[in-house]
Amino acid sequence: MTTASAPGKVILFGEHAVVSGTSALGGAINLRAKVTLQDLPGSILIESGDLTLRGFSLDLISGQVICAEAARATRYVSAVLKELEAADLKVRVESDFPSASGLGSSAAIVVATAAALNAHLGLCLSLKEIATLSHRIERSVQQGLGSPMDTALATFGGYLQVTREVQPIDLPPLDLAVGCTRMPHDTRAEVSKVQTLRKRYPELVDPIFQAIGAISKRSVPLIREHRLEEVGELMNINHGLLEALGVGTRELCELVYAARGAGGAWGAKITGAGGGGCVIALPGTQGEAALITSLRQARGSAFLVRTGCEGLRLEEGS
Ligand code: PMV
Repeated sequence: MTTASAPGKVILFGEHAVVSGTSALGGAINLRAKVTLQDLPGSILIESGDLTLRGFSLDLISGQVICAEAARATRYVSAVLKELEAADLKVRVESDFPSASGLGSSAAIVVATAAALNAHLGLCLSLKEIATLSHRIERSVQQGLGSPMDTALATFGGYLQVTREVQPIDLPPLDLAVGCTRMPHDTRAEVSKVQTLRKRYPELVDPIFQAIGAISKRSVPLIREHRLEEVGELMNINHGLLEALGVGTRELCELVYAARGAGGAWGAKITGAGGGGCVIALPGTQGEAALITSLRQARGSAFLVRTGCEGLRLEEGS
């Protein structure tokens, strides 16, 4: 039996602008997807029994799928199995992630599957090869979409600064609250909306992208020096610019204002593509408990995460 796990991520600064080449900063978080492989001669069975995937069992030969969220996870797992020509296996997926939250769960599943297969089949792939392979697989399942940030963070953990390439960056952990709207999140649609706006108003949108890129860079020394009040201010400015790009929703805004108001956050912003999904908020004067309560009162699901966490690992007993 072989088990590997990989973390999800939050984008701290720079989403959307990064698509046009400015800087973004992301951190791996302490939510993980875990993939366990067991030999099963003559069959390929993918299953998950956990609540966030709502429980399913799928036999690839009979093709029976019960739940859409589970089918999503299965598509990623089967793409990795196909790429690495693996068969005669039972694959079990367990995940800490709320469904379709934009916290990098697909990348975590792909990377954990690739890492488990690497160990199980003795493929001797390096971390870099796992990251590259996983990015290619995630993009093919998502039909050409997906920056390398999610799969690189799932592989290496820590923090990454992304422009046209991905660079690890050494920063201390940050404790953040995540507030989820529970609204579906369509990265492709949001990216295409912002790029259309850019084509129509380049003289307006390009300076917004430049400002977002500058915020990402400016945040690095502030995070390093633990100047949280200023990090929060940058989150607020970044959120305003994402609003200007049209990716905010009423639900996301309610979470942001609840976090900054009753929650006492130093700052709060959309994380990821927007249009649904989640916000992140930096606990401030009122502490973490008040922040979580405020997000829940604004009808979000809310939990704490830590950034800068460990990348993929083989679990004990593998
Ligand atoms: O929604 P997420 O977490 O997949 O993030 C998308 C981030 C974008 O900058 C909007 C797109 C990208 O590929 O970088």
